[in-house]
Amino acid sequence: MFENYKLPSIDLLDKPGESDSLVSFREVLVTLPKEKYEDRLTVVLGKSEIGNSVFFDLDKCSPLLISGTTGSGKSVCINTIICSLLMRNKPDSLKLLLIDTKRLELPFYNGIPHLITPVITNSGKASIELQKVVREMEKRYDLLSGKFKNIEAYNEYCKKNNEPLLPYLVVVIDDMTDLVKFDKLAIEDSLTRLAKYAKSIGIFLILSAQRPSSEFFDGELKVNILSRISFVTSSVIDSKNILNMLGAEKLRGKGDMLFLPVGENTPLRVQGAYVSEEEINKIVDFCLQKQKIQVKELDRIKTKDGRIGTVLSVWFDTSGLEIEFDDNSPETETIDLEDVEEVLPKK
Ligand SMILES: Nc1ncnc2c1ncn2[C@@H]1O[C@H](COP(=O)(O)OP(=O)(O)OP(=O)(O)O)[C@@H](O)[C@H]1O
Ligand SMILES: [Mg+2]
Repeated sequence: MFENYKLPSIDLLDKPGESDSLVSFREVLVTLPKEKYEDRLTVVLGKSEIGNSVFFDLDKCSPLLISGTTGSGKSVCINTIICSLLMRNKPDSLKLLLIDTKRLELPFYNGIPHLITPVITNSGKASIELQKVVREMEKRYDLLSGKFKNIEAYNEYCKKNNEPLLPYLVVVIDDMTDLVKFDKLAIEDSLTRLAKYAKSIGIFLILSAQRPSSEFFDGELKVNILSRISFVTSSVIDSKNILNMLGAEKLRGKGDMLFLPVGENTPLRVQGAYVSEEEINKIVDFCLQKQKIQVKELDRIKTKDGRIGTVLSVWFDTSGLEIEFDDNSPETETIDLEDVEEVLPKK
């Protein structure tokens, strides 16, 4: 269904300004090492203190907790992760479930073909959707049972036998606090099960919270979320709670973080990459619009104002089309993809 889907181009992203002290999303993304090109779950985090780009692999670092006081950079970080995924994954290989009970942070993404359901802003709906994800996980376990050890092995088999692949599913919750106020037991139960078992079958979890209070971040859920990011915290206690150590209370804010991936004892200090709302909108627009109609050279097309012609060339991810119209215009014309009503069937 998405054979012709094009990934957003890096040209949609802002170039870093010279006087800018921000770490831009683009400047990190362009340094993605070659050997990581095929790892579609490698995402941008930011830059280390000595200026190296920092990426991480979502399949290794899920479940991931992102915590820190208000305004510290959690949502920006979540947006860089989502945008990294959108820049590198087609909708048939990666699906997203986005939960944003504050209704502020993730609404931009509505409509993109990667979403399994519109961005969820209601706690009741979130609880139901999380239970569905648990059922999806169980279904996947049944599908793989005894024959394949993980989603990679299963998808390898499908590729060889021309069967549809299982997409990755990334569940993002920004922010947890309101959610657990609504239906603590059910939500905690779903999240704990996902945190424990979902990774090997391609379901990944990213949770954010201003403070991982014991109200939800305790016991079984806590011991199963081992990758942690802490932005600045308002107290030493919060830093200890998130990272099991001091330090996050001294961070500067605005994307300054300590990153503690599973298996590490010492956190890495990272300045988080910044992706602006404008850039997100461009990526989303690309995912939304440019995919509706796919045009290739020599296709016959009809424009919205009823003219019929032949595509002579397609430039730049189909953002400009050179058309020779049948109505005997003396010269070819360049039109936008948006002006195309339909691609006519081949005779
Ligand atoms: N990586 C970054 N680089 C530069 N500035 C940043 C970065 N991250 C965040 N900021 C600045 O801080 C502001 C708040 O960030 P963000 O919305 O991510 O906070 P938050 O932790 O999600 O807060 P809340 O808990 O209130 O939702 C941003 O609008 C931006 O101005
Ligand atoms: Mg936020």
